Amino acid sequence: MLVSAKEMLTKAKAGHYAVGQFNINNLEWTKAVLLTAQELNSPVILGVSEGAGKYMCGYKTVVGMVNGMLEELNITVPVALHLDHGSYEGAKKCIEAGFSSVMFDGSHYPIEENIEKTKELVSICNEKGLSIEAEVGSIGGEEDGVIGKGECADPNECKQIADLGVTMLAAGIGNIHGKYPANWEGLSFETLDAVQQKTGDMPLVLHGGTGIPEDMIKQAISLGVAKINVNTECQLSFAAATRKYVEAGKDLEGKGFDPRKLLAPGFEAIKATVKEKMELFGSVNKAN
Ligand code: 13P
Repeated sequence: MLVSAKEMLTKAKAGHYAVGQFNINNLEWTKAVLLTAQELNSPVILGVSEGAGKYMCGYKTVVGMVNGMLEELNITVPVALHLDHGSYEGAKKCIEAGFSSVMFDGSHYPIEENIEKTKELVSICNEKGLSIEAEVGSIGGEEDGVIGKGECADPNECKQIADLGVTMLAAGIGNIHGKYPANWEGLSFETLDAVQQKTGDMPLVLHGGTGIPEDMIKQAISLGVAKINVNTECQLSFAAATRKYVEAGKDLEGKGFDPRKLLAPGFEAIKATVKEKMELFGSVNKAN
């Protein structure tokens, strides 16, 4: 059964580790993330962007697929199904469709409007026992056609949003979606520290987990980050393994063209990336 992300993130923040949010794109992705979480006895959050939701034939299809897998694969670790960077309308649709968690990304609105819309969604989520993530200070880079400049959040605005009763808060600290450019200045730990001081026990979320050096990940966790989002890194692993298979001519040998064979190396590569991240984040054996 899907669960809200509240309990797993409260435990993570108190225990000084982070739970990974891995974005899913299709059946292989979902299966790879769920099986790895189960093997490592780790809680996990499946992230679905609005674009990925559309690609997978809508939120109801995603809910059906994930619930089916939880049952048929005997997944017993805590799993949250979470809308990533949702619009106000998208969040409402996911709540209806059976997601256990949503992110409302109002970071591009003026703060008053972000507060107003977040507040409404907090009350709906509270009523239904779902977790909700809000964002202050946009995350840089491009995601599903939405381009953020990447700014550092104002800690006072973070407190205003945290006080609305959200479950977890994403604060921009110089992080970027996708690969980091060579001239990236690194995460602003000064901002993160100030945000944590203002928001206390609130689990903080680090977006753009791909390519952040290990020491920065560990420092971020020590400053209150309890959820780390990873998307691009699984895509790169999947693509590299698939490329290797095809370039080696394996699809031309015997029944190597069978999708169950063709997609197997990519599937294993996602599993390996997810395992590496769960070990780095410290969520292994934290399922109960
Ligand atoms: P990356 O694609 O950089 O890993 O970022 C993922 C993310 O933050 C999803 O919200």
